[in-house]
Amino acid sequence: MSKVKIGIIGGSGFYSLDTLQDPIEKSVTTPYGDPSDNLVCGKIAGVDCVVLARHNRKHGIMPTNINYRANVWALKEEGCTHVIVSTACGSLQEEIAPGDLVILDQFIDRLIKLNFSPKIQMFFSTKTRTTKRVQTFYDGTCEKQSGVCHLPVDEPFCLLTRSCLKQAAEESNIPVHPAGTCITIEGPRFSSKAESLLFKSWGGHVINMTTVPECILAKEAGLCYAAIAMATDYDCWHPHNEKVNVELALKTFRENVGKVTQILCAAVPIIAKLDWTNTIQELKETIKNSVMA
Ligand code: ADE
Repeated sequence: MSKVKIGIIGGSGFYSLDTLQDPIEKSVTTPYGDPSDNLVCGKIAGVDCVVLARHNRKHGIMPTNINYRANVWALKEEGCTHVIVSTACGSLQEEIAPGDLVILDQFIDRLIKLNFSPKIQMFFSTKTRTTKRVQTFYDGTCEKQSGVCHLPVDEPFCLLTRSCLKQAAEESNIPVHPAGTCITIEGPRFSSKAESLLFKSWGGHVINMTTVPECILAKEAGLCYAAIAMATDYDCWHPHNEKVNVELALKTFRENVGKVTQILCAAVPIIAKLDWTNTIQELKETIKNSVMA
């Protein structure tokens, strides 16, 4: 049975993990640049873990400027087999109340596309892209990742890792919504009411600014990735509730962050007990079959 190492990415309001035993801080860099912060390596229930603050521990990096590739690459290079994450979200459905947790199973990518005309494009360097966030490691930046990767993301999240999070929630007596579609917007602004109502009508359950491209890059790196979303607000579609603002989102997150850390920590030994050989092999095959040399 292969050994696991678990990366834990903390989102807004979750910057460190007090329960990490023997923490050692490590400053690393990657072919894609620097991750958001130092890695903090330690153990949970005897299992090797690596904690990373997505926005930096001082929350200094806005969603668009997060170096998602460096974050994922750094965890992979550190030997992680899994990545479990927290993300603060707005709720798009009445039944998902602020403070509720959702184990994500799908996303809708609403990152703004900058489709410049060829004339305007000439003013930019060849590095300019039509979307603000790079969603692949295979863009010629790193020699090791040559070719073009057309990754299937019909199942963006790892099914088995999601089931471990669900089991951890059950064992911790913390109710969760077992599945949900997350709409990821570019931010940093929140949505207009018209946008919010549109996203709700599409069947989105929650809305955030970071799941895309993080989950795609984790899959492309061969990591088993799952996310717990915490609804911190009802976005702005809701007729009766306080409209989303930073203070409200952070207040709700702070009040409920204990539930998220409890589930993530409980999931670690559950993950470590399973045999991941087949899951990781399947992921490797998927990536191999997706790269056109
Ligand atoms: N993060 C927390 N609440 C959010 C919202 N309403 N929209 C986008 N991202 C969020």
